[in-house]
Formats: sequence, structure tokens, C-alpha cells
Amino acid sequence: HTQLRGDQVIVVSNREPYLHQLEDGKVVVRRPASGLVTAVEPVMRACSGTWIAHGSGTADRQAVDKHDRVPLPPGQHDYLLRRLWLTGEQEQGYYYGFANEGLWPLCHVAHVRPVFREADWQHYRDVNQLFADAVVAEARSEDPIVLVQDYHFALLPAMVRKRLPRATILTFWHIPWPNPESFGICPWRTEILEGMLGSTILGFHTRYHCKNFIETVDRYMEARIEHEHSTITFGGEQTLVESYPISIEWPAEEETKRWPTPAQSRAEVYARLGIPPDHHLAVGVDRFDYTKGILERLNAVERMLEKHPEWRERFTFVQVAAPSRGALDEYRSFQERIHRATERINARFGREGAPVIRLLAQHHEHDEVNKLYRAADVCLVTSLHDGMNLVCKEFVAARDDERGVLVLSRFAGAAREMPEALVVNPYHVEETADALHQALTMPAAEQRERMASLRSTVREFNVYRWAGRMLSDAARLRLRQRVSERV
Ligand code: F6P
Repeated sequence: HTQLRGDQVIVVSNREPYLHQLEDGKVVVRRPASGLVTAVEPVMRACSGTWIAHGSGTADRQAVDKHDRVPLPPGQHDYLLRRLWLTGEQEQGYYYGFANEGLWPLCHVAHVRPVFREADWQHYRDVNQLFADAVVAEARSEDPIVLVQDYHFALLPAMVRKRLPRATILTFWHIPWPNPESFGICPWRTEILEGMLGSTILGFHTRYHCKNFIETVDRYMEARIEHEHSTITFGGEQTLVESYPISIEWPAEEETKRWPTPAQSRAEVYARLGIPPDHHLAVGVDRFDYTKGILERLNAVERMLEKHPEWRERFTFVQVAAPSRGALDEYRSFQERIHRATERINARFGREGAPVIRLLAQHHEHDEVNKLYRAADVCLVTSLHDGMNLVCKEFVAARDDERGVLVLSRFAGAAREMPEALVVNPYHVEETADALHQALTMPAAEQRERMASLRSTVREFNVYRWAGRMLSDAARLRLRQRVSERV
């Protein structure tokens, strides 16, 4: 993307890359648990520019200077974060309501019924307008490059397009796109599609999601679709619909040198959690979300212990569940179900002081999670539906010893790139239990072979490749626009 040198890059996302929290009267800086942040932050460090996001930390307001801008990352100052402040009502309607009770279950089709309320929709529109206004205010030229992130901002591309017709707007949808029938239940389906078609480029993780989107437009709108080029023309504007599988930043050698060895990681994790030294360890790391298949995973652990009594008292499963969207009933009742299932399985198979399942429902910093990955024999990713899922890629990046086995849901976008994992249908408890057993008994040579191959894929198809492909498509389209304006 050297062709874009000198051009201004503005990112818009709901979630901010760093939040300032007040803890015991002190301000601490935290990284939120978010695949979006994991992926976009390194890209922003590389291109600098401005990131506009919702200020959500308890001390965020104290952390900003009088211009409302924070240089980030702390101490490095590669880019600026501009925080926008929402009222409680706006956050409720736009974020919890329309985005997370409406669009989230709508797009994941995870058997949670989407809820659509008129008032939420109005807040969603207002907040999209608020962020669009901020983009326009930040723009230093008539054609900035605007990187719009996710389902919180479906309307924003067309709003920005109206005011900055020459802007290059790249929208990336971090979650799945469902088929036209499923999407069609949204009362504002046309408005959402029109909003998204304000984008110059519309990116999804997989070709399958692009196909679903194009079919949805075909079903509900009067637009010209050119399947050969994967473009949609609507209202005189053309949008390229393309797949860009998201990834992680591959850890630099200087960083990996500082990591505790796998043996040290294991010793630390086992000591901290009181895991008996002769136990094998499987881990799961997720936001505490009903799409992640955590219940199915617990059921598979239980079934594995039923079928293979030799693992009883020799196996521990640690589930990190980062608090998420806890203001919503659906999330709270899901958390309760998981706590109950954990208790049930522990009562059945655990021993006093050595439970089979350790549910760690708190925020964990990256170093802690990395230690867990390095300590584990198996990592379980059993999403019921996931745009991509970055946990599986982080696990692979953590295993420079080429050991450990990944069990991966076929319904995560990542399964398409990572066939060397043990790929399972998480709805099939028996199959997942068998895969867990297979993982626990896999010979070291086979682990090495699979892990080496997974590592070379993730190393090569890292997040810079994701951003680089999108930005070079953008550069091509910008050039084309300049040339056609000259004619
Ligand atoms: O990638 C999907 C996503 O919903 C992002 O939009 C979001 O930042 C992340 O997961 C975590 O969710 P939230 O921002 O609602 O905590």
C-alpha cells in the first residue's frame, strides 16, 4: 500500500483500542477482548492516522486532552484516538439494542431470536450520523481513506459518501453475513443495504459471506450486479464486494524471546490454578458470548470423560470467559447456564480441590492468555458460528515449540484456512468429544506436523496481508477514479 503514502487514513469502530479504567482510585490502561481490535490496531500503528471510537472506559474522559484526542499506543504515539461520548440512552439503543440484540443474532443465526425495536433503530441511525459527522470533521482532504469497522456502522458509509463523494470508503464486516431469507426478517433491511452500498469496497471474511450479501441485495433491491467482477452498482456508485480473511500480527522474534518457555508457562499456570502436575490441560478463550459454543464444549468434555474413564482425575479444562455485554438478559442467562453446567460436571467428575473445569470469568491480559496457550495440550474453539475467530490463530502463533493440538469448529471462518486442525461440528457432542480424545492422545510427531503447517499459514496470511490486500485494492480504485475524472 505504498501507493497510498501521503493519503489520510481514518478508522471508525465502536470499540476503542485501549480503554482507561479507574481501578482502586488509579487509572489503568486495558486492551479490550475484541478480535476487531486485535486485528486493526497493528494496522493503525503501521499507517498512523486517526481512529474514531466510542469512549467506554470509566476514566476515558479524564485521559483525553482538551482536544479530545489521545496519542496511542501509550508511550509510542503512532496514531490518534478520537473518542466520541454517547449518552446512556444512545449506548443502550444503538450498541446493546440494535447492534447486539438485533444485528448480532440476525447475522450469526445462532438460535437466539433477534429483537428489533423502533427506538433502538432511531438511536442506531443517530449514532451512525454522529460518527459520520466526526469522520467529515476529521477529513483534511475531499478524498480521505475511511476504514469502517463492523455491524455497528452499517449506515455510516452512505452518510459519509453523501458529504465526501470522493472519499474511498472501505467497510469491513467482522461477523458473518446470513442468507437472504434470514436477513430478510430485519424490518430495516433496505436501509441497511443502502447504507453499506455507500462503500467503495465492502469486505467479508469469506467468499461465502460475500455470496450471501450479493444474493441479499439481489433479492431486496434494484441494483446492478456484475458477478464476474463481484461488484454492485446502486445509485450510480459502484461497490466491490470482496473477501479478505482477517488475521493476527505474527509475533516478532524480539517478542517471542521474552516469552517464558512452554515448560515455565506450564509450571506457572499449574501453580497459579492449583492443577495437579500429572493432569493434561485443554483451554478455551472467548468473550462470554452465546455464539462461542461454550456449552457445547463443556458437554463434549463431559462426554469425553464418560467414554474414557482413564482421563478422569488426569484432565483439566480451563475456560477463560471475558465479560461481555453483560447488561443484556440473553448474555446474563447464558452466563448462568454455563456456571450451572460447570458445577454439574465438576460435581460429577471433579475431586475436592481439583475440579475438572475451571471457569475464569474475568478479563485476562494478553501475556496471561499467551501463557495459557503455551501451557496447554489442546485448545478448543467450538463457535456455533463465527466470522473468522482469532483465538485459533493466536494459539498457533503462541506455539513456537510446534506442540499442542487445535480443535476447531467448522462454522468458524478460520476452518477454511486451517484444515490441519481437528475440525468438528460443535453441535455434534460425540464428534467433539472424540476429537478431544484424539487431541489428547496425538503422537508428538503428528502434533508437530500439523502445527508446523498451521504456523506457516498464519505467519504468511497475517493481518498485514489482510490490510495490505484491502488497501491495494483501494489504491487501484483510487487510481481508476483519477484517470476517469481526467478523461
Ligand atoms: O468482531 C466482532 C466483535 O463484535 C467486534 O465488533 C467487537 O469489537 C468484538 O467482537 C467484541 O465485542 P464488543 O466490542 O461488543 O465488546
